[in-house]
Formats: sequence, structure tokens, C-alpha cells
Amino acid sequence: MTQHLDLDQALTEAEPTDTGWWRDAVIYQVYPRSFADGNGDGMGDIPGIRERLPYLRDLGVDAVWLSPFYASPQADAGYDVADYRAIDPMFGTLHDADGLIRDAHRLGLRVIVDLVPNHSSDQHEWFKRALREGPGSALRSRYHFLPGKGENGELPPNDWESVFGGPAWTRAEDGEWFLHLFAPEQPDFNWEHAAVRDEFRSILRFWLDMGVDGFRIDVAHGLVKAEGLPDIGDHEQLKLLGNDVLPFFDQDGVHEIYRSWRLILEEYDGERIGVAEAWTPTVDRTANYLRPDELHQAFNFQYLSTGWDAVALREVIDLSLDAMRPVGAPTTWVLSNHDVVRHLTRLGGGVRRARAASLLMLALPGSAYIYQGEELGLPEVTGLPDEVRQDPAFFRAAGQDGFRDGCRVPMPWTAEGTSYGFGAGGSWLPQPAEWELLSVEAQSGDPDSTLELYRSALAVRRAHAGLGAGTAVEWTEAPAGVLAFRRPGGFACTVNTTGEPVTIQAPGRVLLASAPVEVEPEGVIALPADTTVWWAV
Ligand code: GLC
Repeated sequence: MTQHLDLDQALTEAEPTDTGWWRDAVIYQVYPRSFADGNGDGMGDIPGIRERLPYLRDLGVDAVWLSPFYASPQADAGYDVADYRAIDPMFGTLHDADGLIRDAHRLGLRVIVDLVPNHSSDQHEWFKRALREGPGSALRSRYHFLPGKGENGELPPNDWESVFGGPAWTRAEDGEWFLHLFAPEQPDFNWEHAAVRDEFRSILRFWLDMGVDGFRIDVAHGLVKAEGLPDIGDHEQLKLLGNDVLPFFDQDGVHEIYRSWRLILEEYDGERIGVAEAWTPTVDRTANYLRPDELHQAFNFQYLSTGWDAVALREVIDLSLDAMRPVGAPTTWVLSNHDVVRHLTRLGGGVRRARAASLLMLALPGSAYIYQGEELGLPEVTGLPDEVRQDPAFFRAAGQDGFRDGCRVPMPWTAEGTSYGFGAGGSWLPQPAEWELLSVEAQSGDPDSTLELYRSALAVRRAHAGLGAGTAVEWTEAPAGVLAFRRPGGFACTVNTTGEPVTIQAPGRVLLASAPVEVEPEGVIALPADTTVWWAV
């Protein structure tokens, strides 16, 4: 059997941990448009998510992070917020959100919501007034409005480019230009303005009062711009969210904002947290966001960007752990999210390699992020027809990959039925026919399925508290292309990243494996290609 799991044994090995819940939490990202559709309109919604919360509890995750569900014209799938104190009708109502938070808590799941402080929607009341009230008006100073360069102001104020492609400036009808690091429908706030700072502190309180356990902070590295908005000059084109030193990313001034937010988080009981989406040049720069008086976690994009290579993986794991130790923050691990090609496809080794990568991630100390559908082994959907695409990066044709829709295709829940149980209607992006076999229903109870692998892995992780705890892995001797390490409490993990079986001495008894493994009586094992094994030692 592929997934040999001795939970009783794992349970006896469990060690209690006295650290905060978030330090070793497994956090599941729900992309509301694509998780479950409660009203049959083809678009996921909060009632749909509420119905499926027991699935997440049974999967064994600790918390749910929801991508934005606030009132939004959806120019960037909700990352263009018009009103934080309202739910977009497409997703439901505030009453639904309240019910979702309560249901999740009843099931023992924490709830993290998304906050997008770098910019608002162009339909935000402030921006609409800023446009209406014209140059020099009070509302304009809450954004970055400037006159253009050139004889008649026909050139943008500086040379910055939008992450989604094209200039980062758009000209208003009255001739002034406004800054948008993303789409023109996402004007950047001016964080030098006290009203912006006050407003976000108030939004934090609004959602903390609603009972949320934390915030994922979108483009957390972008809020503060270098003084005078200087030209970049001769600089290589930036990638999505750039990981270079740029005058609009990772400016030191951003940290005082998070210090003020931390004070608010601490006013509330129950350990509410802030998670930074901060693309920085190095993991050490990321650690700055996680100093004890700032945020709690940051996504580890260096890990996400690492290929399937034992040397590179070991290096990034050590670097990540080393970087977080001085600030006392947990390291996080992530393989997939709504902005990148799903790791099953990205790592280039199909479901076999994806499963091995997932088991490696879940054996590392710290907190791990799972993106909806990776537990089903969903691949990136390629070849979506242009007319169904909604990613603004696709339309501006020069984003990170231009194809973020391919990781956002709605979840298959049942083997049959319209949209494979996503909802009673269709689905806003078409699901491939093969997804029938990848549905939750098709995989549940099949011990060889990826879903059951995740369930088993999370059960072991939960039972074996040492797994997520601590700040180090103990590397052990391994042949080229193989990673081997031990974790506290009698746990070891071996990963064969090569395309060939590698013979090793079994360090203990197999707890769980990403592919079938046979241990010979004398303890020798031919570890198959692209396979991770968890051992009780
Ligand atoms: C973040 C989000 C991404 C969005 C961008 C602009 O990177 O994850 O989906 O397009 O910010 O808000």
C-alpha cells in the first residue's frame, strides 16, 4: 500500500508544544471564486465555502486564509477593493461572512482574511471623489496624483512600470496622472497621508471585531514609496512583484506601519496574526517584516521559486531557517497559490513529483500553506480559451506569466454532475474533463490518492507536534540527489529528487510515503525516483 500510516504510533510520539498556534499551523488558502458555489451562478461564494468547511476540518488543516471577498468591481479578482466593510454581492453578505467565521471556529478552524493596503479599486469612494474633485483637492492627496512631464504634461511623472505590464501611471481627464503599480483600476494609496493610515487601522478593527484570527497582507512590501518617486533609470524589466531593490518595494518606511498594526492585533485576545506577502530581494530582508513588534509570518517565496533539486532545496531550507531565527519568527513553506503555476505542473514531474514535494514541505519546521486543489493533485490548466480569461495580467500581456487563470479553475467535488459538484450551475472557468477522476469524491477512501496522502500527512503532523516545531532540521548523510533529515521526536524524512531509484539504508519504519516503497528485511530500500518517505525512527 502506498500510504502506510500508523497513526497510533505517531500519536504516542506526539509532544505538546507551548508555542503560538500559528507557529506550526497548516493554513489552507481558499480562493472564494473557485472553491464552492452555493447559489449556482457559476461563481464560488461564502455560502458555498460554509458548506465545505467540514471538508477542511477533516483534511486536518488549522486555519483557512480567504482571498478577498469584499465589495469590488473585480478588475483583479477582488484585489481591487471598493469597500472593506461590505461583501461583494457575488460572494454573499456580511451576515454570511459572520456565519462563516462562526462555523469555522466551531469546527476548530481559524480564519485569516486578505487585506490589500497598497491600493484600492478605482471605484472606491475616495478615488471616485479624488477624480471628481480635481487637482489640488484633499482626496487626491490620499493617492499619488502628479502632473506629467513634457511640454504639456503628456509624459508620465516617472519611468515606473506596472507589475501587470505597461506604465504604472494613467492620465486622468483633467491632465494629472495617478500611480498604479498594478492595473489602472488599482490606484496606489499614498501612505504618507494620515487618513490612509487611520482608515486601515479602522478596517483592521472592523474585521478583528468580526472575529477573524488574522490578516494576509497583500503586497506588504509596496506601501511606502521612495521619497520624490525617483526614476528607476536603466533597470531590467521587473517581474511580477519584482524581487529587486526598487523605489516602490521594500522601503524601510513600511515597517512603522506594521508596528502600529501589531499593537492593534495585540489589543485582541486569541493571538491574532499578520502574514506578509512581501517579495523582497533576500530572506533576510523578509525577516525584517517579522521582527517581534511587527508581523508574525511571511510567505517564503524563495522556497516556492526553488526547483526540484536536492542541493538547491537544502540550501533554501537552511537559508530560510537561518534568516528567521534572529527575529524569532517561524519559517513558512509554500508551493502553490493563486498567482503562480500550480506546483504539480511547475516542478515538471507530474503528480509523482508534486506528492514528493508536498511531503517534504509538510515535514519542515514552521507553518505551511496549502492552496486549494493541491491536495487533489490538480495540475495547472493550460490552453484556456482567451474569451474566458479574467486575469488582468493576461490582458496587459506582460505580467508574471500572463496566465494566472490556469491555477484558478474551480474545484471538482464530485465525479459527476454539472461543474463536478462545484455548484448547481456551470463554473466561471471551464474544468478539464479529466477532473472527474481528480474530484474529492473520486479520491476519498482511495488509499493511493493524493487527497488521502494529504489527509494522512496532516494527521501525522497534527499527532506529531515535533514536526512543525523548532527552527532547524538535522541533515543526515545521503547519496547525491537525496535529502535526508531528522526531526525531533523520532521522525526522519528522505527525499529522492532524482529520476532513478537510489538504494539507501532505511532509517526506521515507514510512516508514510508519497509512492509505493518496499523495505527489504535487512533494512535496505530502493527509494524510487521522485519519492519522499516519512519514517518513525
Ligand atoms: C498580490 C495578489 C495578486 C494581485 C496583486 C495585486 O500579489 O496575490 O493576486 O494581483 O497582489 O493586488
